[in-house]
Amino acid sequence: MAAKKKTKRVGILTAGGDAPGLNSAIRGFGKAAINEHGMELIGFRDGMRGLAENRTVELDGPALSGILTVGGTILGTSRDKVHRMVVDGEARDMIPTIVENYEKNKLDALVCLGGGGTAKNANRLLKAGLNVLHLPKTIDNDIVETDDSFGFETALEIATDAVDRLHSTAHSHHRIIVAEIMGHRAGWLALGSGIAGGADIILLPEIPYTIDSIAQTIEQRVKRGSTFSVVAVAEGARTVEDAAELAAAEALVREADTDEGKAAAKRHKKAVEAKHRENTFTLAHHLEEATGLESRVSILGYVQRGGIPCSHDRLLATRLGTAGAAAVAEGNFGVMVGTQGQQVVHVPLEKVAGKVKYVPTDHEWITAARQVGTGLGD
Ligand code: F6P
Repeated sequence: MAAKKKTKRVGILTAGGDAPGLNSAIRGFGKAAINEHGMELIGFRDGMRGLAENRTVELDGPALSGILTVGGTILGTSRDKVHRMVVDGEARDMIPTIVENYEKNKLDALVCLGGGGTAKNANRLLKAGLNVLHLPKTIDNDIVETDDSFGFETALEIATDAVDRLHSTAHSHHRIIVAEIMGHRAGWLALGSGIAGGADIILLPEIPYTIDSIAQTIEQRVKRGSTFSVVAVAEGARTVEDAAELAAAEALVREADTDEGKAAAKRHKKAVEAKHRENTFTLAHHLEEATGLESRVSILGYVQRGGIPCSHDRLLATRLGTAGAAAVAEGNFGVMVGTQGQQVVHVPLEKVAGKVKYVPTDHEWITAARQVGTGLGD
């Protein structure tokens, strides 16, 4: 008689900022894991924190039903770092506790749904000996080695709709409206929605701007009879001077060779970032001064990552979730399951962790934006 195959027990969690499509991915992974591969699935609540605190939830058929289109994450999330988790006001290395919890739950694998921070955490857990798998989620589209991450397309739709809508009110009032768009340190969301929504100016972290250049674009528009402008600005976009200040602060962090020096450099970098946080309002103020046109700010904020996922993200999350379950069944661990072209690919986590996919300044989206006359502030 053939030996009975051991039932695999798998843990799953969602970490980092929430994004539309997380529940579609939990469902895709869970249904394939249970129905196709005969596995057992448990969820950890609130990302890496729930994993460290061993807060679990059974994920069976009924729990996975009816969540395809639900926004957010049914598991909850957090932005904790496994090696420096704040517990009772102190940063602690929770990796040994997490390894214990993994063993206590008799897990064969742990599936982490998240962005760049989650890839770093997953890689740390991989090095600690856990069988880890990562599925790429982010509205920022800034994960390397994958063309797609669920959440991005939904956010792109929302931000595009906002840029569209700002046109009529900017036009009616002869105003400049500066729309701040998320994306962390990458400009994909601002660039994509700026192009799709027909923004007159798009400002990205990858292309530092000057007020003079933006004012010139606006003045040329006024000369042509357009007495309004919509500016799509990525939250990480900076003036040439501010970008240089931040780059210098980052270099100090990289070059510090003592723990104390590093801590001081990090504090300085945080202070620089805090100073730049008001950038969008400062920009609108300077544009009003430079052009004489009344200026307003619209921060799109968390609306961009709330609500139901679009069809692209539901499809992508289901593809990656089911492919992830197959990877676990095959014992293919230590990888991110992403896409390149039309293909689902398995990329070693060490190639992903700690890297950021910025917009290349010669990217064809940038060429397209320039060729339709969009100002990029440079
Ligand atoms: O990474 C997704 C994202 O929404 C970024 O675009 C944004 O910079 C950040 O998260 C906001 O983070 P938090 O949810 O911690 O405020």
